[in-house]
Amino acid sequence: MQLTLNGREVDVATAEGVSLLELLRDECGLRSMKDGCAPEGSCGACTVIVDGRPVVSCAQPASRFAGRNVETLEGLADEVRRSWAQAFVGLGASQCGFCTPGIVMKAEALLRRVDHPSDAEVARALAGNVCRCTGYVSIVRAIQAVAAQRAGVEPASSGDPGGNAIGQPAPRYDGVAQVLGETQFVGDMEVPGMLHGAIRFADHPRARVLRIDTAAAAQHTDVVDVVTWRDIPGERLQGLISADWPVLVAETEETRYVGDMLAFVVARTRRAARAAAALVKVEYEVLRPITSPDAALEAGAPLLHPGGNLLSTSVVHRGDVPAALAGARHVESGTFTTQRIEHAFLEPEAALAVPDGDGLRVYAQGQGAWEDRRQIASLLALPQERIRVTQVATGGAFGGKEDLGPQAAAALLARLTKAPVLLKLSRAESLRFHPKRHPTRIEATLGCDADGRLVAYKARIVGDTGAYASLGAKVLERAAGHACGAYRVPNVDVESRAVYTNNLPCGAMRGFGVPQVTFAIEGLLDELAQRCGLDGWEMRWRNAVETGDRFGSGQVLGPGVGLKKTLLAVREAYRSARFAGIACGAKNTGIGNGVTEHGRAVVAPLADGRVLLRHSWTEMGQGIHTALRQVCAQELGIGADRIDVVVDTERELDTGETTASRATLLGGQAVLRAAQSLREALQAADWSDLVGQEFEGTFKIDWTTPIGPDVPDPVTHIGYGWATQVVILDDHGHLAKVVAAQDVGRAINPQILRGQVEGGVHMGLGYALSEDFATVDGVPVATTLKSLGIIPAAGMPEVETILVEEPLPDGPFGAKGAGEAVLVPTAAAVAGALRAFDGIVRRDLPMRDSPAARAALPRLAAVRE
Ligand code: FES
Ligand code: FES
Repeated sequence: MQLTLNGREVDVATAEGVSLLELLRDECGLRSMKDGCAPEGSCGACTVIVDGRPVVSCAQPASRFAGRNVETLEGLADEVRRSWAQAFVGLGASQCGFCTPGIVMKAEALLRRVDHPSDAEVARALAGNVCRCTGYVSIVRAIQAVAAQRAGVEPASSGDPGGNAIGQPAPRYDGVAQVLGETQFVGDMEVPGMLHGAIRFADHPRARVLRIDTAAAAQHTDVVDVVTWRDIPGERLQGLISADWPVLVAETEETRYVGDMLAFVVARTRRAARAAAALVKVEYEVLRPITSPDAALEAGAPLLHPGGNLLSTSVVHRGDVPAALAGARHVESGTFTTQRIEHAFLEPEAALAVPDGDGLRVYAQGQGAWEDRRQIASLLALPQERIRVTQVATGGAFGGKEDLGPQAAAALLARLTKAPVLLKLSRAESLRFHPKRHPTRIEATLGCDADGRLVAYKARIVGDTGAYASLGAKVLERAAGHACGAYRVPNVDVESRAVYTNNLPCGAMRGFGVPQVTFAIEGLLDELAQRCGLDGWEMRWRNAVETGDRFGSGQVLGPGVGLKKTLLAVREAYRSARFAGIACGAKNTGIGNGVTEHGRAVVAPLADGRVLLRHSWTEMGQGIHTALRQVCAQELGIGADRIDVVVDTERELDTGETTASRATLLGGQAVLRAAQSLREALQAADWSDLVGQEFEGTFKIDWTTPIGPDVPDPVTHIGYGWATQVVILDDHGHLAKVVAAQDVGRAINPQILRGQVEGGVHMGLGYALSEDFATVDGVPVATTLKSLGIIPAAGMPEVETILVEEPLPDGPFGAKGAGEAVLVPTAAAVAGALRAFDGIVRRDLPMRDSPAARAALPRLAAVRE
């Protein structure tokens, strides 16, 4: 077929069923348009302009575009590309960057039609574009900046491109390439002789696998091999903490959820691999799934794992709760439920494995290159030194890429075929496969004295941890430790259990068990405030922890507690609004709880005057490359643009997963030390003398302790991030504004931190009002991105971010973790605002019955009703 592509007539071969996206990427070699949900057509990452109008290229056959004029981001004029890059980088409108090229094309089409769009028009134009990182606030700003520039009003980058120093809004590392679609994600990679993998998933959440028949699949055109459990040379069971998760389920074994994998297919094309995977026949004895923790804990329930259905119990106990409640002036009890939700990172999981000498090189986008290496080596029965994992740009993760993803399948297939293998999950497969946020039930009782001072808290927390351990035990441990929220409570009795079921596994997700427990205690706090005759702000102020107080986990807090400053920062906003809710949140920095944690980094001066910075953390949009580069630049007194960043296991720097809001603290300290040692060396030598040398920095935290009744004075964490949020509704009960005050210790890069807050608020509002990843009999109801209930740009209220800096002594320049606390209080603040509006006490998430939910996500509300 012929079409005009970026101004040139082209003649390209296409076949029936090939989408425009496939044609542009696979036949034309263009990569700016991304596949976030093909062929669903609902994320907008694949947007191109056809005959002047924006089109999602994944959802229509290429043949429909014969003779049409197709424009991609690659084809825009240089000055146009430059203006988009400047505005998006200058205003922090791109985080992981996976959605960005599609948004730029959508915006370009808009500005060709409308010279001066209002914010609402911009937001409406973005209706088909999902951004899970930014909360859209900065995106709208960036589009307006380009519009203003075109109108000659002001320069495109009204944002300050920023200096390098700590505290400056230094531009995002690799930001321009991201905006222009030039950043290479795993799915954009291609190597000679590359094959494609596909996965045959289970049909039933619980069924005994009697026979796996691969004959038909093996005979499919272009198939190279079909692999089952028998072909695994090493350990079939993998897992981050407990090795209880089969990479491939064996015959005679039971499936435990619908994301279990039964066979891998490798073929010359992705299309052939996927078609053949569907031809793998499986005979089952279908069994009744266990789909709730209650059912799993019933006497006589079938055991889903040899050790039983109770994965873990975490306990915090201090004081005398019955006596304190008996003596309390006011006591409030309630049961709170929270739902399972999906991370919805925009880049579905992908991995490329390439034979490399007698080992393998794996290009991965998970949250822990070294953890991937360990598990892949174990799977393949190879020493770890023969596996090299190179961290590639990661299109969002939010905790959902901690467990071993398609890296395992790609590695196994590459090892067996001795050829490079790329395996990309579709959106539907991604939703089915990776762990989610835990649904919980929390039965809680909170008491206070006549002045509103809390005296005791009792909570029983049950989390549905699904099919495999993942990080479920740790999530429920964190829930126990943070159950008292950001408040001083002298008497505590908390028990938190993680229970296996045949639902999708639940594990790490931004907030890690804390948004759930915060929703519960904040809800009870509002009740007690009313009984005491206090407003929400005063109730929180009287109970907010300070240095020297005991945190919920029992830890006596050291310096660096900025909670009260965040409360002061929002007081006026709360008190001056007619309908407002307020909530506080705390989130640990670092895993803690007795785990020894490290930061490790290396700086190496290069011959051309540049510096190679190696560290161990995944850049997934949160800005860790940029922040660590700033730390390095500040210490060396050089421009950050002279520093290249690499994360690759070829240099041993294992520090575990990028999790627990810890990368800035641990990584920052390590980079600081590495850069200091280079700086000291430079006092006695010239740069050229040091080329070829490496300067390593390490940082260790080995003094935290677990929670538990037998630990009288625990030190559970290095420190905590603190937040207070106020949610304001308008006279219709719709979201009007969120004021988010966040104690970040020290703002290494305020622009990136603002982006974290805005994106966190967006995710928190969705959690509060509209998002749900429900299952029926263990099978997900939602199979598309569109059905998750993510709030679109037009549903977002104004977000005012206030950064508070109360330095944490152990943090680099005082910085503490910020990536998670940003959404911890949001759902509770929304519940408070709704209660102020209509008087209804809501204790179940999501609060879809509310006017705020209906306005934020009208389409979903209509469907559900
Ligand atoms: Fe086309 Fe998501 S990939 S809309
Ligand atoms: Fe939009 Fe990551 S920057 S999805």
